[in-house]
Amino acid sequence: MITKVSVIGAGAVGSMLSFHLFSRLSLSELAIVDIAGDLAKGVSLDIEDSRAFFNSSTKVEGTDDFCSIKDSDIIVITAGVARKEGMSRLDLLKINAKVAKDVSTSIKKHAKNCIVITVTNPLDLITYIVHKETGFSRNRVIGMGSLLDSVRLLNVLYKESNMSTASFEAFVFGLHNNAMIVSENHIRIKGEKAGKFLSRDAIKRIQEKTAHRGGEIISYLKNRSANFAPSFSVFKLIKTIAEDSNEIIPVSVLLSGEYGLSDVCVGVPCVINKTGIAKIIEVELTNDEKEKLASVKEEFKQLKELA
Ligand code: NAI
Repeated sequence: MITKVSVIGAGAVGSMLSFHLFSRLSLSELAIVDIAGDLAKGVSLDIEDSRAFFNSSTKVEGTDDFCSIKDSDIIVITAGVARKEGMSRLDLLKINAKVAKDVSTSIKKHAKNCIVITVTNPLDLITYIVHKETGFSRNRVIGMGSLLDSVRLLNVLYKESNMSTASFEAFVFGLHNNAMIVSENHIRIKGEKAGKFLSRDAIKRIQEKTAHRGGEIISYLKNRSANFAPSFSVFKLIKTIAEDSNEIIPVSVLLSGEYGLSDVCVGVPCVINKTGIAKIIEVELTNDEKEKLASVKEEFKQLKELA
């Protein structure tokens, strides 16, 4: 049973996620930790002031002390630097790799049985670092990236086709960066192939728009990145774990031979339940997609060297 969740990083994504958790889940405890002085304290007081609206009895603690994550069932890592205009996710690597290592040490010390959800970018490498530094089994280290990319795809599909999002079944996989794989084969509209309803040009546009959505948002926000859809994506993962609902969700996971890849974290569809990642699903890929996914190995190798 999920009774305590901790959110590390009380910035844009962490604070919004904390509000979703407070307002929508019946937790006993919610801990929010940030190294920036009293920031987490302020966020926690603001969130708990909405208590009466939700009749919530969740205890909320905001602090800069990592001891407060003790015995959490789930810990979410949103700590680090966010991408700014003109910055690639790779630019973030050096700073955020160090943050991930520090946070992993605290997690190992205070909550050795928890499930960790990583959000900090570059997502797949940070997931890998947390997996290595905590020593947790791969089912307990879940990277949230492809889920966000997938809901972005659903929105782009909605806008391009003028059909309700409930009509679509679609997911994105691969690395959580511009090289993500938006597979036409894995877009279904009421069970039919996308090509039945959409022109080739439209499908191309949808793939492009989805892959560049994060960057497009930053180009307008300038000094920060997206937080509404990202924080709700993390909330969705936590809800799926808490409800033990065995839903298939694309997440970044350490592969050990699946899809012909090993020792890399990458987004693939997985069954999510109270154990975290219960199963990795291997879907059929076209030759092009196989090649694209295989290239993850090289990209990951470079990332590991830089970190
Ligand atoms: P933000 O800058 O608003 O917040 C980050 C917070 O982390 C700051 O309050 C900072 O004080 C805190 N922090 C830094 N080092 C820390 C440490 N060692 N321990 C505890 N707290 C620490 O950033 P935002 O917008 O909330 O984004 C957070 C991260 O999530 C970024 O890396 C961003 O790129 C990533 N992100 C990932 C998404 C995904 O789909 N995986 C989507 C959106 C953002």
